[in-house]
Amino acid sequence: MHAITIPEPGGPEALVWDEVPDPVPGEGEVLVEVVAGAVNRADILQRQGFYNPPPGASPYPGLECSGRITALGPGVGGWAVGDEVCALLAGGGYAEKVAVPAGQLLPVPAGLGLKEAAALPEVVCTVWSNVFMVAHLRPGETLLVHGGSSGIGTMAIQLAKAVGARVAVTAGTKEKLERCAELGADILINYREQDFVAELERATDGAGADVILDNMGAKYLDRNVRALAVNGRLAIIGMQGGVKGELNIGALLRKRAAISATSLRARPLEEKAAIVAAVREHVWPLVADGHVRPVVDHEVPMPDAAAAHRVVEDSGHVGKVLLVTPR
Ligand SMILES: NC(=O)c1ccc[n+]([C@@H]2O[C@H](COP(=O)([O-])OP(=O)(O)OC[C@H]3O[C@@H](n4cnc5c(N)ncnc54)[C@H](OP(=O)(O)O)[C@@H]3O)[C@@H](O)[C@H]2O)c1
Repeated sequence: MHAITIPEPGGPEALVWDEVPDPVPGEGEVLVEVVAGAVNRADILQRQGFYNPPPGASPYPGLECSGRITALGPGVGGWAVGDEVCALLAGGGYAEKVAVPAGQLLPVPAGLGLKEAAALPEVVCTVWSNVFMVAHLRPGETLLVHGGSSGIGTMAIQLAKAVGARVAVTAGTKEKLERCAELGADILINYREQDFVAELERATDGAGADVILDNMGAKYLDRNVRALAVNGRLAIIGMQGGVKGELNIGALLRKRAAISATSLRARPLEEKAAIVAAVREHVWPLVADGHVRPVVDHEVPMPDAAAAHRVVEDSGHVGKVLLVTPR
């Protein structure tokens, strides 16, 4: 088969469409013939040499894909050759074939094309596990999503609105904020021109955000704590603004607030399977009834993954960029 390999870490040109051995599905795994993969910010870090795949994972980039099952490994039940699926991956989505633990498979939701389904697993699992399973966002509460027009952000807005929450977003341009509003965002904050703590305070009559989904890490730690409501929950999923910040514990205490930080990729198989099962139960019906849709900016042939990386690295996209395998 062919896959995108990274012979030497570097810029987008480091991504090479190469002939590589086919993966063999192990115990509890299936082989998926990939129709499409999707780009995540983490893939850029992997390309640059800063985010190595966890032990045992495919060396190729790609944290999600869609396609058809072509073989079952030993001990797999509930799936059949020919099933159309999408999958959460620890790697290997930028390839024509990938071996996937069966617990990380999802059926293609009703009403959605096979290709588009590639845009869902990583963002849905990340948002559901952090905003709902950890931070327990409830109807009527306010969620602040940093980077509202990102792959993660576009999903977080839709899921939070679908459960009846109020959504505030930050983004870097007016056009991106407009796209967030189209997806349902109620409070729009341009992080280049406005102070999100002050804007949120104004929009919530001083209450703040019950839950914050944060991609920035250190750079926003202090401001995020200030923007939290009493009993607020800050869910950190990214470190785009650095890894070491200073925390005002007094402010956290007074607000009786909580901070969590999780990474999906390296979690044990059982934890990923539990998240995927929760997504299938709670999110798939919302996709099937049209409340939640993947936001696809554009698609690129997989061998041209470098072009997709250039766009995502420059934040020239809204939602997801798909990588379509040549046929
Ligand atoms: N922990 C996990 O398991 C996990 C899983 C998936 C993703 N993530 C993280 O989630 C984040 C989003 O991932 P993605 O793939 O959806 O990325 P993406 O589409 O590339 O989006 C990155 C976002 O960062 C925003 N941003 C940049 N500077 C900002 C600032 N100062 N304030 C607020 N937002 C800012 C950009 O906004 P503009 O375009 O408006 O500038 C853009 O929306 C990344 O940090 C990624 O590492 C974590």
